[in-house]
Amino acid sequence: MASLAETLETLEKRALGDLAGVGDDSALENWRNVYLGRRGALADYLRSVGQLAAADRPAAGQAANAVKVALEAAFADREAQIQALSLDARFEADRIDVTLPARRLHTGALHPTTQILRRIVSIFRDLGFRETEGPEVELDWYNFEALNIPPDHPARDMWDTFYVNPPSVLLRTHTSPVQIRTMERSTPPVRVIVPGRVYRYEAQDPSHEWMFYQVEGLAVDAGLTMADLKGVLVAFAQRIFWPDTQCKFRCSYFPFVEPGMEMDVQCPICRGQGCRVCKHSGWLELLGAGMVHPKVLTNVGYDPEQVHGFAFGMGPERIAMVTHVIDDIRLFYGNDLRFLQQFG
Ligand code: DAH
Repeated sequence: MASLAETLETLEKRALGDLAGVGDDSALENWRNVYLGRRGALADYLRSVGQLAAADRPAAGQAANAVKVALEAAFADREAQIQALSLDARFEADRIDVTLPARRLHTGALHPTTQILRRIVSIFRDLGFRETEGPEVELDWYNFEALNIPPDHPARDMWDTFYVNPPSVLLRTHTSPVQIRTMERSTPPVRVIVPGRVYRYEAQDPSHEWMFYQVEGLAVDAGLTMADLKGVLVAFAQRIFWPDTQCKFRCSYFPFVEPGMEMDVQCPICRGQGCRVCKHSGWLELLGAGMVHPKVLTNVGYDPEQVHGFAFGMGPERIAMVTHVIDDIRLFYGNDLRFLQQFG
């Protein structure tokens, strides 16, 4: 009996010692099989109890049971410890640092040309003009002839272009052909504002692109005069720049208007004082304009004795270049995000 009791004690010590070294679920399971399993050490022990003298069996059995209960309790404790440990480890691995600044979301923005076009069009809408558009691939008739620029007219040199199908199909060099297209399908009064892309056969440099935008304006009605034209253009300049912006009209030549002129505005950056943007003149050329030429009215079937019109055309990139002090028009269509992202 003494020897059996000793064996039991050693067994318990060994079991508890082993258990302390168990570090994960599978080792834990193994331990359970070795000590508490059906073929484990404790089961072996119980079998040997059966060989004792009957009188000794109850005490030996009780002792063995007490050890079994103790080992089961130790097992449960260790199991709980291991679970807690692995949970800690998982938290450690999954840890989120909520103090990190969030990654910046890049939201898109309108292109600077689109932004300025929308401002221009909305000002003219307030002044009673309707927005319309025309094709970029245009016929010679609309781009030139109907605008009083016959073949071989020297004025064609101002608008050299790309031909899609020479000599009659080309990329429009200005938005002025939309004047003709609009008048053809309307009767006066006409008041339209026409944003759109135009093309020029042009060597590129800081102030020349082969593709850019224009905004054309046209009004036709009985009794329109140069005073109406000036009133509309000054109202526009004072809305897009400063409310007290000064405007200056200079005689100029465009075949589709008579008289023709250009409007200069007081430099909106230095307000006329002279700066880099206005090349120290205090003034900036803003647009071409004039009273619609009688031949143009006749070309669309209007009677120049009955109705008069005024027209104007401007470059929106130029306005954006002035207001944002951008010194190279090529930046607009170079797709460089370092440039574009400044207009978010
Ligand atoms: N179409 C001209 C150009 O591209 C600009 C222009 C001048 C438009 C006078 C007009 C105008 O309507 O009246 O240079």
